[in-house]
Amino acid sequence: MKIQPAAFLNGKIRLPGDKSISHRAAIFASLAEGETRIENFATSADCASTLNCLKNLGVEIKREDSTVFVKGVGKSGFSKPNDELDCGNSGTTMRLLAGVLAGQNFDSVLTGDESLSKRPMRRIIEPLTQMGAKIESVNGCAPLKIRAVNLLQAISYKLPVASAQVKSCVLLAGLNAAGKTKVQNPKSEIKSPTSRNHTELMLRYLGVEIAEHFVETENGFVQEIWVDGSCKFFAKDLNVPSDISSAAFFIVASACLEKSEIVLENVGLNPTRTAIIGVLKSLGADIQVLNQKEICNEIIGDFLVRGRGKLARNSSSNLISGDIIANLIDEIPILAVFATQIETGLEIRGAEELRVKESDRIAAVVENLRRMNAVVEEFPDGFKVEKSELKGATVDSFGDHRIAMAFAIAALFATGETEIIGAESANVSFPEFFQTLAILRK
Ligand code: S3P
Repeated sequence: MKIQPAAFLNGKIRLPGDKSISHRAAIFASLAEGETRIENFATSADCASTLNCLKNLGVEIKREDSTVFVKGVGKSGFSKPNDELDCGNSGTTMRLLAGVLAGQNFDSVLTGDESLSKRPMRRIIEPLTQMGAKIESVNGCAPLKIRAVNLLQAISYKLPVASAQVKSCVLLAGLNAAGKTKVQNPKSEIKSPTSRNHTELMLRYLGVEIAEHFVETENGFVQEIWVDGSCKFFAKDLNVPSDISSAAFFIVASACLEKSEIVLENVGLNPTRTAIIGVLKSLGADIQVLNQKEICNEIIGDFLVRGRGKLARNSSSNLISGDIIANLIDEIPILAVFATQIETGLEIRGAEELRVKESDRIAAVVENLRRMNAVVEEFPDGFKVEKSELKGATVDSFGDHRIAMAFAIAALFATGETEIIGAESANVSFPEFFQTLAILRK
């Protein structure tokens, strides 16, 4: 894929459904009793992996464009799959389904592609084993062989990482456990969830009692969340907001390219996902939120983004670290690209989780930015990016969708042509990305 620099972006567009919410919609609709219609289901390959796994578990699923119809089988109505369950590139599929399958009375195997087979699964094997699950792995990685059990036992589990996938995995296992399963998030300085809370919001929307509270500690707050294994839930139609993580690429491009003006409609504005907007605005980006409303317990709204020159002229700090990192973890690659365009540059620390995403995102960002002439320093837990004059170059997606898309945006800011090797990996979350970019770019 070859990308030329752009003058500005202009247009009004509705992006595909949120990936995180779509995974949950499909899984919870399968666990519910009755039929669910899911509107604006993500077009991403990752979410297709989730649908395929659920079909292999005996769930009847029909898809008509972005509408998905699911015939729920109830919490213990899955049937033994004939095959291994292929999660493709999707960590969310593997970690959430492991939580669902750990308490079933049949054996199953979760597999993934080369990248997913290298990602850490001990973080879910550990709590699930404490609940009585029997899981074999290859040195803590997939394939995961999950053995049949009669019933899991509720536990109280302190999350060692601020991960929504791990939190959701344990809560989902808790739906098939005897007693109340409690998850404790890592400590945070402010009284808000340390990771995205779509699982809690959607289960609650479907009538599941999810209790949560914050415990005040010496220098912060710890959030505790419970689910009761005896709960039942019923199907209810779901509507998925557009994906803010996909929107972030066009928001950054428009914020930086003067004369840009774009409107992105119906984007998810869950506060555990909007940290990127707060950061961009604090660095001078002109972003407005219009038409805010609520659907299915999630806040949505439209973004109006206008381009401005000389961003971050008056910014006092260029350091991003601490609690905020988990809430903008998927946007850090594009934030690194943004950093090249602002007066202060940016230093991002405490982001070591990036090393175990679909690629080592710290290494991938540093390598590609350097190839494009940016001044970058690498740390074990992040990087420091200076304001830089980007030059077109050949960059690599490293098989990672967010790296492919972040560097397609970097290419718009560069002088000369940029070639992205492995650009097709964008399909993992946003198959229409390059088409959308072509529509918006001027
Ligand atoms: C996700 C949670 C995050 C995120 C991933 C999607 C989810 O991962 O990076 O893209 O849908 O729960 P972690 O929970 O591992 O941080």
